[in-house]
Amino acid sequence: MPARPFLKWAGGKGQLLPELTSRLPARFRRYHEPFVGGGALFFHLWNNGRLARGAVLSDYNPDLVECYRAVRDSVEELIALLLDLRPRFSDKEFFYEIRGWDRRPDFRQRPMVERAARMIFLNRTCYNGLYRLNNKGQFNAPFGHYKNPLIVDPENMREASRALQSVDLQVGDFGAVLARAETGDFVYFDPPYVPLSATASFTAYTNQGFAEAEQRRLAAVFQTLARRECYVMLSNSYTELARTLYAGQPVHESILASRKINCDGRKRGEVEELIVCSYAPLRNGVRP
Ligand SMILES: C[S@@+](CC[C@H](N)C(=O)[O-])C[C@H]1O[C@@H](n2cnc3c(N)ncnc32)[C@H](O)[C@@H]1O
Repeated sequence: MPARPFLKWAGGKGQLLPELTSRLPARFRRYHEPFVGGGALFFHLWNNGRLARGAVLSDYNPDLVECYRAVRDSVEELIALLLDLRPRFSDKEFFYEIRGWDRRPDFRQRPMVERAARMIFLNRTCYNGLYRLNNKGQFNAPFGHYKNPLIVDPENMREASRALQSVDLQVGDFGAVLARAETGDFVYFDPPYVPLSATASFTAYTNQGFAEAEQRRLAAVFQTLARRECYVMLSNSYTELARTLYAGQPVHESILASRKINCDGRKRGEVEELIVCSYAPLRNGVRP
C-alpha cells in the first residue's frame, strides 16, 4: 500500500503530482524539501523507491514538523489518540475546546504526540481543512461541519511512519537548505505562492508572511544551488514576478492545475502554474 499525505494542506501538490513526477531528475543523491507542507512529492518518491540516499524535510511551522516527528516516532500512540478523538468529530464545542489549547501557557509542555493528535484532528474537522494561524500564532480556522470526516487511516499512518523512519526532520527557514544540500542532491521548493492578486493572498500557514522580498531571497537560494549542481525544481503561481525571477533557468513552463483550497470558494478551478527546473528533465527516458 503506498503512503499518502496524512494532512490536508493548502497548496497540497496531489493534483500537480503527475506534472512534477514527469520532470524528476533521472538520478539524484539526497532529497530536500524545505517547504514540506503535506509532503505529496516526498511520499511519491518514497513509494517509488527513490529515497535510498536519504531525505531532509523541513518547514517553518514547528507544529507541522512535530506532527511528522510524532508519525515517525510514536505512530501507534498517535493512532490510538486519534481513534479516541474520532467519535467527537461533530461536537462543535469540543472542537473549540481543543482548538483553544494553544491559548494556554502550558501548551508546549504537553507531550508532542498529544499536540500532533490535536493538529491532525483539527485539520480533519476545521473549515476547508485550512490550517490558519492568527498573528499570535494561534490556530484560528473555524469548525467545519463535516458529515463523515476521515480522522485517521491507521494503515496509511503506519505506512507514512515507515516512509519517515530515516528522514531528517527540521524546523526552520528554507535558507538552511544551503548548509545541507550538496552536488547531485535534489531540492524541491513549493513555497507559498506569489498571490495572483493582492486579495487572493493566502500566506497564513505560519504567522509570518511570505512577501516579495522572500520570493526574491528564494530565487537567490535556487540559483546558488543550481550553481552547486544540485537538481532544483520549484513550483509557483504563473505570475509576472515568478516568471521574471526564474526567467534564466533551463526549464520554465506553465501548466494547468486545479486548485483545491482557496480562501474564496468561488475561485476554485483551473489556474496556470509555473514549474521551474535547473536541469533538463528526461521526457519518456529521453533528454530534450
Ligand atoms: C505551499 S505549502 C507547501 C505544500 C506542500 N509541498 C504539499 O505538497 O502539501 C508552503 C509551506 O511553506 C512553509 N513556509 C512558509 N514560510 C517559510 C519559510 N520562510 N521557510 C520554510 N518554510 C516556510 C509553510 O509553513 C507551508 O507549510
